Amino acid sequence: MKATITVLPGDGIGPEVTAQAVRVLEKVAAKYGHDFTFHEALMGGIAIDKTGQPLPDETLRSAEQSDAILLGAVGGPQWSDPTAKVRPEQGLLGIRKHFELFANLRPVKAYPALAQHTPLRAELLDGVDMLFVRELTGGLYFGPRQEQGDGDSAYDTEIYSVPEVERVAHVAFRAAQGRRKQVTSVDKANVLAAMRLWRRTVVKVHEDYSDVALDHVLVDACTMYLVTRPASFDVILASNMFGDILSDEASVLAGSLGMLPSASLGSSTFGLYEPIHGSAPDIAGQGKANPTGTILSAAMLLRYSLGLDAEAKAVENAVEQTLAAGARTADIAPKGGAWISTNEFAETVLGCL
Ligand code: IPM
Ligand code: MG
Repeated sequence: MKATITVLPGDGIGPEVTAQAVRVLEKVAAKYGHDFTFHEALMGGIAIDKTGQPLPDETLRSAEQSDAILLGAVGGPQWSDPTAKVRPEQGLLGIRKHFELFANLRPVKAYPALAQHTPLRAELLDGVDMLFVRELTGGLYFGPRQEQGDGDSAYDTEIYSVPEVERVAHVAFRAAQGRRKQVTSVDKANVLAAMRLWRRTVVKVHEDYSDVALDHVLVDACTMYLVTRPASFDVILASNMFGDILSDEASVLAGSLGMLPSASLGSSTFGLYEPIHGSAPDIAGQGKANPTGTILSAAMLLRYSLGLDAEAKAVENAVEQTLAAGARTADIAPKGGAWISTNEFAETVLGCL
């Protein structure tokens, strides 16, 4: 098949990890007879430096003409002045909003090969395989706000409407139907009005899915359960803010933040694919970045935007084989143990493919 992919390398380790994921996609194209065209564009801090805008119009136009976006990471200390008018993160939030990518899928799996590398006891990790469905275009991230300016107060507002919760809840229940048929909805309904609406709406949507079990967990308790009984979760449905926090916590289960991919989807097959990690400016340019999260994001792109499930599985299997063979980037190497570069790790994945 023919597909056009907009690549947004972004900042820090972003360019290093996206370059490797593009190589993997090129290999998939060659092996399975597809024709992928890649368009690189500016977004984030690098876009601010070159154009003054975190999300230039040209980038949006390129993305609009694509089947999917592959993104590295955005942000860095040089753009973190709290009084700055433009911030790299606005580029990312702007894309999510522009394309109304309201459902963010973040699968978290514990890799047996990395069990020793997590701070949790190995027996707790046995069977960990969960999928976060994070609401991505509403809530605290997009509510009315007042910046601090020179004043002595500032605020952000959490607003959720019934349709906003409904559409993401449907994504979670449908995903659960293809998995272990269990949705855990996270909220703070004991305190927050928007979260009471969230719970009421999820309960209502659940009426359409009698084959899926639903339970509700308060977010504070959820942080605890994620480390005390992580294998008990199947699909975790959460608001924008809570999903952000909980998915970073859950990444520990996978051995490293560098392992985790994500897909951000709306109501069509168009999607944005990015690792959940940030730009890691402290290790940028040293070959220390773990490209796994981005390579697995490319696999999700194949699956969700291009409908190429066998190709996606092949990439996922290649990553698993690479880890099983003992290949380790710096973040997942044993203390004082040997590690290979971003590039060498990707070479191994390509070899397995
Ligand atoms: C994420 C990131 C972003 C978010 C930042 C970079 C704006 O943390 O994708 O989880 O908070 O959504
Ligand atoms: Mg985050």
